[in-house]
Amino acid sequence: MPPAADGPDSRLAESLLAFWADAGVDAMLLDAPLDRIEAGKIAPPPRPAPIAAPVAPVARAGQPDISGAVAQAKAAAAAAADLDALVAAIAAFEGCPLRFEGAATKAVVYRGDPQAPVMVIGEGPGAEEDIQGKPFVGRAGKLLDRMVAAAGLEDRVFITNTVFWRPPGNRTPTPAEQAVCAPFLERIIALVRPKMLLLAGGASAKSLLKREEGILSMRGRWFEWRASDGAMELPAMPTLHPAFLLRQPGAKKRAWADLLTLTERLDRPERPH
Ligand code: URA
Repeated sequence: MPPAADGPDSRLAESLLAFWADAGVDAMLLDAPLDRIEAGKIAPPPRPAPIAAPVAPVARAGQPDISGAVAQAKAAAAAAADLDALVAAIAAFEGCPLRFEGAATKAVVYRGDPQAPVMVIGEGPGAEEDIQGKPFVGRAGKLLDRMVAAAGLEDRVFITNTVFWRPPGNRTPTPAEQAVCAPFLERIIALVRPKMLLLAGGASAKSLLKREEGILSMRGRWFEWRASDGAMELPAMPTLHPAFLLRQPGAKKRAWADLLTLTERLDRPERPH
């Protein structure tokens, strides 16, 4: 005799089913075996057509499309006739996402003598630079100043960075952020016309020299920096970043050797033509 629909067996079965459902069991065994591999070979039903048109592809998969921002930066940089106009153009520029991320409102552009023969290019402003609006004014900057003075380069340096707004949490600026700021940096170099560049840290050296080696293999060697339009070339020396030297004081002698190599070239008497 079949059990009554509301008898104890039925309530037991319901409770057991509820228990399995809670445990995630959502398939029943069949009386006959099912070949699921064969079953999987059946062509799936066609997917419905997408409702919206696909978004225009970005420059490279996973990379932000920065071409518009770079074009804007180029136009604004080219229009700046002198350093003051360039500083104003950078301050007004809204194409670099860093401006809206970690930075206070100020753009951090440069400090030092615009007639200086050496341009020091760091990575990007930190917290103290963001507050004061000048590059290299925090602990790393103080160390840089002491090294520069000891090498006899005091008042002979102009200091700037690859990006003009503080990256959040002092992280390294990304290649995309550097690329957006690059037209401004290039215009700074063109207006100041230093004799040589000192590139502080791997992110600066890689970005300006378009090379992939680590800073430990590039430092202390001379490279040629070239403007993107080929109109200008300068000798450039990568060196260790002063923030790295604060963490690794044992590396200071290598940065010191780099500075002496740079000073030696700077003060070398020019050969008569
Ligand atoms: N580190 C940099 O690279 N630049 C600064 O201006 C300050 C710290």
